[in-house]
Amino acid sequence: MSVDARVSTRVAGLDERLDGGIPRGHIVLVAGPPGSLKSTFAYRILYQEAKERGAASLYLSMEQSRASLAAQMASLGMSPDGAKGVHIIDVRSLRREIEDLREQPQWLLGLRRQLGRYKEEIGCDLLAIDSLDALYALTPMENPRNEVFHFFEELRELNATTFLVSEMGRDSVRMAHHGVEEFLADTIVHLRMREIDIGMSTSVRRYIGVVKMRGVDHDLDYYPLIVEGGAFEIVSE
Ligand SMILES: Nc1ncnc2c1ncn2[C@@H]1O[C@H](COP(=O)(O)OP(=O)(O)OP(=O)(O)O)[C@@H](O)[C@H]1O
Ligand SMILES: [Mg+2]
Repeated sequence: MSVDARVSTRVAGLDERLDGGIPRGHIVLVAGPPGSLKSTFAYRILYQEAKERGAASLYLSMEQSRASLAAQMASLGMSPDGAKGVHIIDVRSLRREIEDLREQPQWLLGLRRQLGRYKEEIGCDLLAIDSLDALYALTPMENPRNEVFHFFEELRELNATTFLVSEMGRDSVRMAHHGVEEFLADTIVHLRMREIDIGMSTSVRRYIGVVKMRGVDHDLDYYPLIVEGGAFEIVSE
């Protein structure tokens, strides 16, 4: 495995606008409204890195079951059997592991420890947590700003390229629930959906924008995002 400094977004046309892709080791917030392809975007990156580079990837699915996510991704041409290194862990199995340790309801603490164990056992070059909001729902926090800060610090210690999926309301300008995540993240990928009037009808179009990327001179444009046969592509002049 070469030590390439960048992780491809797997979106045709986008990497060249980011100086080659996402800097390895970044914590990436993937924010967008329902159906904006957050899960698919994150999974594709983990999947392709596992398939082409032999990377070990952990996909923590806090909402969708493993079976449902695997079936959805298989319908997009990414069968889990096709990439040995990609491990989907859903909340049921996570709960089992963490309950064993009698750490509930201290979910964040339990999760940190469990992530350390996964890293030792199966490796963790890339990590996705889908979604932050679902994780928060399991975690009563007295001082969210502080606890989220520490959680990010611990994620950094894993030295993985990490994708944190964040659910946004359709008209929200906030990229994540507590507001601090957008300052703590190294990169923010915003998946947007906008209504467009075409003649008598209205259609919804998808857009992708990188609104923050530490250490990279990137542009701030939003590009139309086209998905065809499981491949992603941006439209740009
Ligand atoms: N085979 C397919 N080809 C193209 N697009 C698809 C295909 N299957 C699903 N989609 C689109 O993908 C969307 C779901 O993508 P995804 O689950 O990644 O979104 P999400 O942002 O994670 O959604 P949520 O907020 O519900 O978790 C569907 O709403 C549909 O528009
Ligand atoms: Mg999703």
